[in-house]
Amino acid sequence: MCDDGNTSGKDKGLSRGLTNYGDRGFSIYLRRSFASSMGYSRQMLDRPIVGIAHSASGFNNCHRHFPEMIEAVKRGVLAAGALPVEFPTISLGEVFLSPTSLKFRNLMSMDVEEMTRAQPMDSVILLGGCDKTVPAQLMGAASAGLPSIQLVAGPMSTSRHRGERLGACTDCRRFWQRYRAGDVDDRGIDEVEKRLASTSGTCAVMGTASTMAALAEAIGMMPAGSAAIPAVDADRLRMAEETGRIAASLIGTDKTPKKIITEKALENGVRMLMAIGGSTNAVIHLAAIAGRLGLKLDLKRMNEISDTTPVLVDLKPTGSAYMEDLHAAGGIPAVMRELKHLLHLDCETITGETIGERIDAADSWVDRNIVRPIDSPIRESGGLLAVFGNMAPRGAIIKRSAADPNLFEKTGRAVVFNSLQDLAARIDDPDLDVTADDFLVLQHAGPLSDAAMPEAGYIPIPAKLARAGVKDMVRISDARMSGTAYGTIVLHVAPDAASGGPIGLIRNGDRIALSVKDHSIRLLVSDEELERRRGERKVEKRPAPRGYDMLYRDHVLQADEGCDFDFLKSAPS
Ligand code: FES
Ligand code: MG
Repeated sequence: MCDDGNTSGKDKGLSRGLTNYGDRGFSIYLRRSFASSMGYSRQMLDRPIVGIAHSASGFNNCHRHFPEMIEAVKRGVLAAGALPVEFPTISLGEVFLSPTSLKFRNLMSMDVEEMTRAQPMDSVILLGGCDKTVPAQLMGAASAGLPSIQLVAGPMSTSRHRGERLGACTDCRRFWQRYRAGDVDDRGIDEVEKRLASTSGTCAVMGTASTMAALAEAIGMMPAGSAAIPAVDADRLRMAEETGRIAASLIGTDKTPKKIITEKALENGVRMLMAIGGSTNAVIHLAAIAGRLGLKLDLKRMNEISDTTPVLVDLKPTGSAYMEDLHAAGGIPAVMRELKHLLHLDCETITGETIGERIDAADSWVDRNIVRPIDSPIRESGGLLAVFGNMAPRGAIIKRSAADPNLFEKTGRAVVFNSLQDLAARIDDPDLDVTADDFLVLQHAGPLSDAAMPEAGYIPIPAKLARAGVKDMVRISDARMSGTAYGTIVLHVAPDAASGGPIGLIRNGDRIALSVKDHSIRLLVSDEELERRRGERKVEKRPAPRGYDMLYRDHVLQADEGCDFDFLKSAPS
């Protein structure tokens, strides 16, 4: 609280953590004096402080409207009697970062954690949206341990191209694939380029950003109904204002992320992930958030949840609609109502009510074209599945809701690319020895590789096959895939090739067996032969890194542990 109970004189004001300059009185006097230079009245400085950790940046198109949102948040905080103070943190604009945004998620989480702790504030609003920003904020807040509430940018609105609806970024891929196949000409692709992303907000489909927003709501860290409100809608600003009010009400309570994100809340998150056909990236992020709280995301338990959770939401990339349609259809509360008998209803949320109470309060009108009833789902089982086997002893992920079921039980011949460079150099080579029945394998694109686990798992169909009409093939890698992509794609193979995982031992012509039914991916090569290959493996000499590269290389964990840094995890609770 603002004054540890002493409400008069020099001791009052400017929030917690004030006594580290000389004596307590001097510390408050000095800070208040410097804060006064920003034009605050004494009346304002006597209020407790709500920090607003925001990730606006000129390199983040998704957060373009944050100045307006911050203004609305501040209104809410002030109306509730606290003082709002915004501060910038690292921003991660998904498409502008090299080698990949995931590499910097942990850096952003450290920024959020340390600045929340170091600066005087009594509760904090986490304002993010673009793919990695929400997980980074939740990870940082989980470690900082202050009462915290998430607020998201909201999704982009769709636009039109020759009568067709367009939304980033499933349509980005769809049109690029058509362009590669020669169905769309140069002028057509130019027009599409200008229309794909035409408002502020996060990608318009159920990609990683929308998935993480839905999960933040399902685990109770955001107000009900807030995940899917479009970025440009006035409701988004009203929700920002409301979030400000709630953040002020959290001051002095024990509503820290640890209180809200319990093991049961995480399971509710996994349930939601399955029902919305959410992004594969969310598995990594949930594992990392869990790790910050001494919890573990168990992939076998995830499979049990997946097998008992139908896909209910008809959104791209697995279905046909967009996030704005989900909002109009009833949003995440409508999905939760359908899942009621599968959720832990007693989980507490940041707004005070339990998940069960939120469901009871949800509007009963739902657009059934977008949110299906539980007894008439889009798919009987969940969108994501972990597969295991000698090729992925610590698991790999397949998004079965975005894959071709005809390829689920299949054995194929490996066509191997040993790096991203090798893939780029050969995938479209007319002489590449490849057929539609082969399995494309990409190595050295995992967390420990120089590429730092990019979204390269969506390996393009070789040009000559694409031109012949092939739309999908089994593709395997230790990389990730964009939440907006689709195909029969096995990702996050752990351990990765760079850390000595068996995926690095696959050679051209090896046979690989995929069975979605058995949750398995097996390399049909004898243990002796694999041992022999392991002995022959040349450990590539890489230059000694410095700075953040050094921290990253020395401490990044594998995908099943969320690719967090080992020293940021919390001891098991
Ligand atoms: Fe920000 Fe897709 S680029 S969410
Ligand atoms: Mg994405």
